Amino acid sequence: MDWLVKNEINRCLLCAEAPCSKACPYQVEPDRRIRSLYFENPYGASEGFSFDACEKCDAPCEKACCLASQSKAIAIRDLMRKVSETKETLELSSEEVDLSTSICGVKLENPFMLSSSVVASDYEMISKAFELGWAGVAYKTICLFEQHETSPRFSALKSRTGSFYGFKNIEQLSDHALEENVAVFKQLKDKYPTKVIVASIMGRNEKEWEYLARVCDEAGADVIECNFSCPNMEDNTLGVTIGQSRRLVERFMKATRKGTKKPILAKLTPNVTEMVPIAQAAKRGGANGIAAINTIKSITGVNIDSLAPEPAVRGQSSLGGYSGAAVKPIALRFISEIARDEECKTMHISGMGGIETWRDAVEFLLLGASSLQLTTAIMQYGYRIIEDLLSGLAGYMKERNIHKVSEIIRGSVDNVVDLNQLERDTILYPKFNLDACIGCGRCSISCFDGGHHAIQFDAETRRPKLNGSKCVGCHLCRLVCPVQAIGTVRKRI
Ligand SMILES: Cc1cc2nc3c(=O)[nH]c(=O)nc-3n(C[C@H](O)[C@H](O)[C@H](O)COP(=O)(O)O)c2cc1C
Repeated sequence: MDWLVKNEINRCLLCAEAPCSKACPYQVEPDRRIRSLYFENPYGASEGFSFDACEKCDAPCEKACCLASQSKAIAIRDLMRKVSETKETLELSSEEVDLSTSICGVKLENPFMLSSSVVASDYEMISKAFELGWAGVAYKTICLFEQHETSPRFSALKSRTGSFYGFKNIEQLSDHALEENVAVFKQLKDKYPTKVIVASIMGRNEKEWEYLARVCDEAGADVIECNFSCPNMEDNTLGVTIGQSRRLVERFMKATRKGTKKPILAKLTPNVTEMVPIAQAAKRGGANGIAAINTIKSITGVNIDSLAPEPAVRGQSSLGGYSGAAVKPIALRFISEIARDEECKTMHISGMGGIETWRDAVEFLLLGASSLQLTTAIMQYGYRIIEDLLSGLAGYMKERNIHKVSEIIRGSVDNVVDLNQLERDTILYPKFNLDACIGCGRCSISCFDGGHHAIQFDAETRRPKLNGSKCVGCHLCRLVCPVQAIGTVRKRI
């Protein structure tokens, strides 16, 4: 996608009850289509679209745009033209695709579930999500002790466009009583028998793990998820402390197994050096699968005026769980390691950590996850993101003649190898597309200051020139180029 178009899409506020769509006399639904572009989903953006109506329209959508009051309305008509051009480039098979998968043998109509958190806290929320197309829920962690939350309890690191790329929470577990929560399970099961309910639990001792598993099983939960990973417990013998000990994980998994014959997931923490030995311990204890990752202990920032770390509770803060787009690489690392391990590779992996778009979802599937869970993206954008997750995944499959999600799962597992197995006899040199280059010279700055001084920038022509004898093919220039004007050519050395 053209970088100027991308910038324009990123300016869209993704409004609630979007005025642009309300003002559209032709039911083009520009808000939904721009949202699809925002989530890198050209398939959803162009579904059922024709530019004919926009052609003759004087764009009341732009006048209604929330940014119009500041004379900065989104160029909606131009974006719709782009949608129409993109549509012409898509080659989608007309065959239906099967998005279903399963979680430890329990059928999921698609891979997407709410992960255990505030987004999965009560009947109203979950039923709204189910109606929109989410296939299941890992319910907010249930326990038998009271929660005393702080205010505030969230902080965020934002990108230059204002979206979160990292998110910190110091939230604890469900603040509803066990009875209330299991009543919700029953209500959900009655109304949505085909949706999957994963009961996330946390006990303080073996008896509690067994008891919670039994009660949730009897209330209709399809799968039990042991929360061995919350980093925000006041009692530091719980949550992440369990997930850092093979002994405790195996012990409490065994206790949970006593309470249920249904599948059990061990939800593990990334706050460890290695997760595989912990996953193996969970398997020994009776787990059928691994859910990963929970959040990463973090400090997102410090207010340099008040000196309070964030989120500040009367001037103080604590380490808290980091999630969202920034943690995706760490999640993918742990998932790929579990998927590659001989002992663990038969276990189900429910992947999460930074999934926002269908592309992220495909990456998790390729590295071994068979079901997917999301929180932070929902907190930021709402349950409606399921539309683009589903249509994006379906479009990807239709473009490649993939019929079932199972054909994607584990597709890249064997492509993650040890460093010493990587081929080191070829250089991929950068190749400048001088027509696309806008002459900013960022490639030369980075190559000189952070690379191998292989790019000269001609200040007259404002174009880069490569010195092949110095270039090592590191690709820093490609990564910093703001307009994707650098490709590659391969050369053996
Ligand atoms: C506000 C908030 C509350 C959470 N509460 C829980 C919880 O109660 N139990 C749990 O297992 N994980 C909890 N998590 C972790 C998420 O389920 C998930 O593992 C993590 O956020 C990574 O996924 P994401 O990047 O899609 O948010 C919470 C996360 C957030 C942001």
